[in-house]
Amino acid sequence: MTRPVVVPVVEIRAVGVVGGGQMGRGIAQVFAASGFTVVLADVNDDALSHAVKMIERDMQRRVDRGTLTAEDREQARANLTTTTDYAAFAESDLVIEAVTENEVLKNTIFRTLQPHIKATTILATNTSSISVTRLAAATDRPERFIGIHFMNPAPVMKLVEVTRGLPTDEPTFQAVAALAERIGKRLVASADTPAFIVNRILIPMINEAVYALYEGVGDILAIDSAMKLGANHPMGPFELADYIGLDTCLAVMRVLHEELGDSKYRPCPLLAKYVDANWLGKKSGRGFYDYAVTPARPTR
Ligand code: CAA
Repeated sequence: MTRPVVVPVVEIRAVGVVGGGQMGRGIAQVFAASGFTVVLADVNDDALSHAVKMIERDMQRRVDRGTLTAEDREQARANLTTTTDYAAFAESDLVIEAVTENEVLKNTIFRTLQPHIKATTILATNTSSISVTRLAAATDRPERFIGIHFMNPAPVMKLVEVTRGLPTDEPTFQAVAALAERIGKRLVASADTPAFIVNRILIPMINEAVYALYEGVGDILAIDSAMKLGANHPMGPFELADYIGLDTCLAVMRVLHEELGDSKYRPCPLLAKYVDANWLGKKSGRGFYDYAVTPARPTR
């Protein structure tokens, strides 16, 4: 008689996050607020101070609204430290990379941080489109590598989309499944295919909205209003594109187009033009809307 194999599941207590941008800081906030020790790393000190400022601002807003106690805010803040040195990941049980959608950069980050982490540490990527299998294969622990994709804003959105690469082992998946529950998120498992589930559907919708704008079907306000009032979307496609970041939207469309080879995924030239102009959305102060004025003004 064969016995079932008992696989040890790593209990995650300490988490490292790489990247102090909007996703990295949101992910750091989620873990810090859920009682984990969190180290947030970035190459840039200014990015880290900005990230901490934004986390503190968001937590203060929650305290003011009465959805977070001042005591829990203090505890969450005490759980979080920042660093520019991966040596601070020495105790991390899980390290999540949340930098821009650039495979070479992600590979370099994993290669650089590997010597600083424990052999048992799980490595994860928050990639929104790149192959988890390929990223895993480039690390020293493909079996303990997994995709954990948070949605923006991470502290609010209930989903984590979890993707096993071909080499990802079951204990790693189980450890992440237990983790999702502890941070109050619902896990949906996606196959390792370009852009997974949410972005496979959401980003082509945004790209289609840009085509509609490009072809004169409606202007930015008309298209946003139509989708908010007509489809009950909380944000119109242009508001959402600016919120996600136009560079990210374009990167996802390029991955879909290149890897699935179907012309229906061709990125709209107007989206590429906005990215060329460095009009990347909210984070750069201008995208489809100009955020220098309140309320933000459509750029066409
Ligand atoms: N960070 C943290 N918390 C935030 C936040 C932010 N940026 N923006 C809003 N919140 C919180 C508020 O603090 C508030 O929390 P409490 O209820 O605890 O007080 C709550 O969200 C609601 O906030 P508001 O009432 O101010 O705002 P709203 O009702 O207009 O909702 C929203 C804001 C949640 C962002 C809503 O507009 C929404 O759901 N938009 C769609 C977001 C979406 O589709 N995200 C997925 C993007 S795709 C993606 O992320 C994948 C990818 O890889 C590209």
